[in-house]
Amino acid sequence: MTRLFDRKLYAAPLDKDKIRTALDIGTGTGVWAIDFADEHPNCTVTGTDISPIQPSWVPSNARFEIEDAKKEWTFQPNYFDYIHIPWLTGTIADWPALYKEAYKCTAPGGWIEHLDDDVEGLKEAGFTNVTTEVIYSDDPKMKQVGLNLSATLTHDVDGFLTYLLHNYENWTPQEIHNYASIMRKEIRERKIHSNSKWRVVRGQKPLDT
Ligand SMILES: C[S@@+](CC[C@H](N)C(=O)[O-])C[C@H]1O[C@@H](n2cnc3c(N)ncnc32)[C@H](O)[C@@H]1O
Repeated sequence: MTRLFDRKLYAAPLDKDKIRTALDIGTGTGVWAIDFADEHPNCTVTGTDISPIQPSWVPSNARFEIEDAKKEWTFQPNYFDYIHIPWLTGTIADWPALYKEAYKCTAPGGWIEHLDDDVEGLKEAGFTNVTTEVIYSDDPKMKQVGLNLSATLTHDVDGFLTYLLHNYENWTPQEIHNYASIMRKEIRERKIHSNSKWRVVRGQKPLDT
């Protein structure tokens, strides 16, 4: 993901010296939260996920919590100077409800940034200064990003297929295993030039709220 931003961890106009609190929703391995904490030693960074796969050796200003972003958020209102939502495609049914929680927990003047294949609804939630950047992964500069994504998908395919097909479609482990190996083969197929469009949408909570 950071390659999409030329190795920058964010693109919102944050004041590096003033930011004190940041939240990374669906943090996954926690790499982004750890790097952000290293770059901003005066900022407390919280990474949340429903899956406890984050490391325990982390910078003293980073911490991880198990929290389902689909439920009511347990953070203080008006608290975070920056909320980062990276790549939660397919996991959230009700984005307006999630943005409502995010708006509630963003500090006045604070920023939210959401990177995904489709993003809508920040303005409706109350955020202002909303801008959208579209990133095409078939841009030659993005070849490396595509390779990384292909490696990620190839490794993750069993996990996300199992979640969907076992829990919702009652497929057996063997059926899922067979399907996963077909999918891995298709992902590696060089004759298929698949590409995708990514959006980075950022917005700010007005100062006078
Ligand atoms: C595609 S991964 C992205 C991980 C990381 N943000 C990154 O960019 O590498 C999606 C992550 O969202 C987490 N997730 C899915 N549903 C969630 C929910 N309801 N609340 C919090 N995290 C969730 C998954 O466990 C997974 O770690």
